[in-house]
Amino acid sequence: MTPLMTPRKILVTSALPYANGAIHLGHLVEYIQTDIWVRFQKQRGHECYYVCADDAHGTPIMLKADRDGITPEELIAEVGKSHIADFNEFGIAFDNYHSTHSDENKTLSSLVYTRLRDAGHISSRTITQAFDPVKNMFLPDRFIKGDCPKCGAKDQYGDGCEVCGANYSPTDLKNAVSAISGATPIEKESEHYFFDLADFTEMLRDWTNAGHLQAEVRNKLAEWLESGLQQWDISRDAPYFGFEIPDAPNKYFYVWLDAPIGYMASFQNLCDKTDLNFDDFWAKDSDVELYHFIGKDIIYFHALFWPAMLRGANFRTPDAIFAHGFLTVNGEKMSKSRGTFITARTYLDHLNPEYLRYYFAAKLSNTIDDLDLNFDDFSQRVNSDLVGKVVNIASRCSGFIRKKFDNQLSATCVESDLFAEFIAANGAIADYYEHREFGKAMREIMELADKANQYIDHKKPWSIAKEEGKDAELHDVCSVAINLFRILAAYLKPVLPALTTEAELFLNAPITTWIDELQPLVNHTLNDFKPLMTRVEADKIAAIIDDSKENLLKV
Ligand code: 2FM
Ligand code: ZN
Repeated sequence: MTPLMTPRKILVTSALPYANGAIHLGHLVEYIQTDIWVRFQKQRGHECYYVCADDAHGTPIMLKADRDGITPEELIAEVGKSHIADFNEFGIAFDNYHSTHSDENKTLSSLVYTRLRDAGHISSRTITQAFDPVKNMFLPDRFIKGDCPKCGAKDQYGDGCEVCGANYSPTDLKNAVSAISGATPIEKESEHYFFDLADFTEMLRDWTNAGHLQAEVRNKLAEWLESGLQQWDISRDAPYFGFEIPDAPNKYFYVWLDAPIGYMASFQNLCDKTDLNFDDFWAKDSDVELYHFIGKDIIYFHALFWPAMLRGANFRTPDAIFAHGFLTVNGEKMSKSRGTFITARTYLDHLNPEYLRYYFAAKLSNTIDDLDLNFDDFSQRVNSDLVGKVVNIASRCSGFIRKKFDNQLSATCVESDLFAEFIAANGAIADYYEHREFGKAMREIMELADKANQYIDHKKPWSIAKEEGKDAELHDVCSVAINLFRILAAYLKPVLPALTTEAELFLNAPITTWIDELQPLVNHTLNDFKPLMTRVEADKIAAIIDDSKENLLKV
C-alpha cells in the first residue's frame, strides 16, 4: 500500500446560479464537473469543501418578482428550493448551499467595500443614463429596445444587434423604448461609485501570468490588460434588489460586486455550523487551496475584478480559476423552439441523472472548448460503456456466485497479476481526474472494463458451470471478475455516486478510499445482485424534447 501524501485542504466553488430561473443542462456541465472533482479529492483522503449559493440580487430578479406579483424575497425562496432539489437529484453534493441575500454576505460585502474605499480604490462621479419615466427607474442596457442604428433591424437590445452583430450603446438605438413600460427613455444624471481596477494593473499582470489560469484564458487576459483597465461601476440606484452601500443611502451594490463575495459568505455560513475557521481559508496568508469553477463567459469577473477586490481588501487570492466551455445540444446552441433548452427537472422526469454525469465526464477536458450533447452518442456511450461493459461484469458472474456458492467469494483472488494491473492504473487515472481530464480518465477505465470482459469471455464461466467437478474453477473465475468490477466501481465513484452506492451494497463492502488501498475481497459474502443500471430508451429522449417544447408554450 502506498501511503497517501499529506492531506490537502481545499475549498472549491461553482458559479452561483441566478435565482430567477431553473437550472438547465448548460448549468449542469459545471456543477457535474465540479462535483466530480470534489468527490475525487475526498476519495483521495483530502479535506475538501464545496460551497455554492443562489445569486439573488439584481434588476432581472426584481422585475420578475414584480411581474409574478410577489416580493423578490418570495421569488428567491421559491427558486432557491427548486435549485436545491435539482442539485440533490443530480448528486451534486455541496458542503454548503447559501444565498447572496444573506446576513453573512451583507457583512462581508460591506467589509470588502469599506476596505477598498479606505485604501483609496473607490471613487465616485456623476454619469448620465437612460431612465424610464413611467417605472421611475434607471434602465440597464438589456432593458432598452429599439431599431439597430446600423442595419435598422427592429426590436434589438440596448447593448448590441442580434441581426448584424453591431455593438453600440443604448443611446445610439433608434426609436428606443423601455422594455419594461414601453415608455421612451429620458436621460438622467446620477452619482455612481467605481472600483478603480487600474490601480491593480501591475498586480493583475503578475497574477494572470503566475500559473492560476488556463493558457487560453491567460491569452485573453493579456489582451484585456493590454487595452487598459477601466473603472468598474459598482453602484446602482434605487429601486434595486440588493444591499445598500454603507455610506451611500439609496445606492446599492451592483449584483456582480456581492456575487463572488457570496463564495465567502457561503463558507462563513458553513463555519458557523461547524468548527471550521473562516480565516484559515480566506486570510491573506492562508495555505488552503482555493479553486473557482466557472463558465468562460464570466472570466472577466473572476480573473480580473475578483483577484483585485480580494487583494485590495487584504484577503487571499484564488489558486486557480477553472473555466469550461458552453454546452451545445446536437451540435447547436440550446434552442427553446427545437426543444433542446432542457431544464434539469425535465431531464429528471425521464432519465437517470447518472447517465448525464457519465456522458459529461466522458466528454470533459480541462480546456474551454464547448461540449456537445448529442443524444445518439449519449445513448450509445451509456448503453455500451456503463450497461454493456461495467455493469455487465457483475451481472454475468454474480448469478453463479449466488446459486452455487451461497453468495460467498472464493478464498483467494487467483489472478493476482490481473488484479495488480487494475490497481496499477490508479496513478494515471488519478492524474487525469486531478487535471480535469475526465474524458481521458473514462477512457482508461473503459479499457480496464474491456479487459475484465475479455477475461470473462476467455474463461467462459457459463461453460465451466456445465462441466462436472469444475466448481472450484468457476468459483475462482467469478470471484476474480467481481473483484475487478469492484475496482472499476471505485474508479467511477466520483462520477457515479448512486450506482457506486448500489454496487457497494451488492458487494457488501464500502469503498472509502482511493484505489491504491483496495485489497481483493476473499472469503467474503455478497448481497444478492440487483440490476444496477438499465439501458437508455429512445422514447425517453423524445419525451424530453417534447416536454421542453411544451415548457416553451407555458412561459
Ligand atoms: O453568470 C451567472 O450566472 C452569475 N450568476 C454567476 C455568478 S458567479 C459568482 F461570482 F457569484
Ligand atoms: Zn443591426
